Parts: sequence; structure tokens; C-alpha cells
Amino acid sequence: MYDEARHELTRMLRREGIRDERVLAAFDHVPRERFVPPEQRERAYRDEPLPIGEGQTISQPFVVALMLQALELTGRERVLEVGTGSGYQTALLAQLAVEVISLERSPRLAAAATALLAELGVPRVRVFQADGSLGWPAAAPYQAIVVSASAPYVPDALVRQLDEGGRLVLPVGPAEGQELVLLVRRGHGLRRTRLGPVRFVPLIGAEGWGAPFSNGAAHP
Ligand SMILES: C[S@@+](CC[C@H](N)C(=O)[O-])C[C@H]1O[C@@H](n2cnc3c(N)ncnc32)[C@H](O)[C@@H]1O
Repeated sequence: MYDEARHELTRMLRREGIRDERVLAAFDHVPRERFVPPEQRERAYRDEPLPIGEGQTISQPFVVALMLQALELTGRERVLEVGTGSGYQTALLAQLAVEVISLERSPRLAAAATALLAELGVPRVRVFQADGSLGWPAAAPYQAIVVSASAPYVPDALVRQLDEGGRLVLPVGPAEGQELVLLVRRGHGLRRTRLGPVRFVPLIGAEGWGAPFSNGAAHP
């Protein structure tokens, strides 16, 4: 029922400049409608973020495609994802890498994503409920790390868990708007490239923003 809408989304991503054929094939394969609440299914293939509960969102498809393309995955990488959310990007990553470790702060979202990924038979992914701003040292180093929530600065823990030549993509900046940044590790140095302006929900954790105030704003 949603197949044509999925193909159209993939064609749109191509028109908008996504060139990595493996990324496009992953978008053409993963059923985004399964990762949004039932009342949002009709909107699942629009190029927009959608609410998934707990005040969180499934990210805009074009921005997800941009981040995945920047990782330049070949299929051999172990990837760390911070901010599982619905599990949609986790399922895309499973198409692109050999192993995916995904971290989610919200126990409810982590449990829901774990159940859905298992139900869909998504292979080689592990979801943990944890503060992803600290990474997951037990499985480091990672050849790629992608953060789907905005950090006040690049968390040192994530840089330390990046392999030589590894690629880290994350949004950095305040709640009003951030810069999507690509960091590539070369020896002790990092090459930094700006990928453009984005707007993500905050990364809340020890190397992120502080827990939200009762009015919903996050403090550092
Ligand atoms: C924009 S959503 C991620 C969307 C996800 N990529 C998807 O496909 O649905 C950001 C997620 O990051 C989570 N998050 C925020 N701070 C976190 C942290 N320190 N560790 C792990 N997850 C965190 C939020 O709970 C939220 O689910």
C-alpha cells in the first residue's frame, strides 16, 4: 500500500542531490510507515519530521539521508547511533553496515524500537537504553558514529571511540538551530566539514545539554 509513496520519496531524495546508491536503496527498502504512530501513517512519506511520543520526533528523511551519505558506509563498518528514537534510522543503518549499536535515553522509546526492529527482522542491530553522549565504550572503536540529537559541543567520549579514519556526523548548536558537522579522525587530528543548517531535538546527557526544565527548555 505504501510502496509507491516509498519509491517517490527515494526519487525525491535523488532529485534533491543524494547520490549514494546504497543510501537510496536503503530508503527504498525500509517501511517508514511502520516507525510512526498509526495516526501519522498517511504522512509517513512526506519529507518532514513527525512526532513519535515522549516529545521526540522521527527526523526529516532528507536530513537523515544527508547524514547517512556523509558516513560513506561500504557495508563493513561497525556503527554507533546515538538517539534511536523510532528505530527508523537504525533500520536504514542495518542495510548499510555490518553491525549497529544504537543508544536511546528514553526507556519507552528504546523498548518500542527494540520490539519493532525484532518484529521486522532487522538483523545485526543492538539497542541499549543509555546516555549516548558518553558513547558505548564496550564495542569501540567505531568506523562511523551518527548522533540524531543536537549537542552543545562535540562530545569528547564520542571522539575517543572513533576509529582511525572513522567518520562522526552530528548537529552542534543551540535549540533554535544547529550546524550539521562531519568530523573525520586522522591520527590525533580531526578534519571538520560543515554540512549545513539543521534543527534537531536536544541531546540530553553528561556530554550534552542538562535535563529539561519543567517548561520544556533544556539547560546546559
Ligand atoms: C530526533 S530523535 C531521533 C530520531 C531517530 N533517528 C529516528 O529515526 O526515529 C532524537 C532522539 O535522541 C534521544 N536522545 C536525546 N538525548 C539522548 C542521549 N543522551 N542518549 C541517547 N539518546 C538521546 C531522544 O530521546 C530522541 O529519541
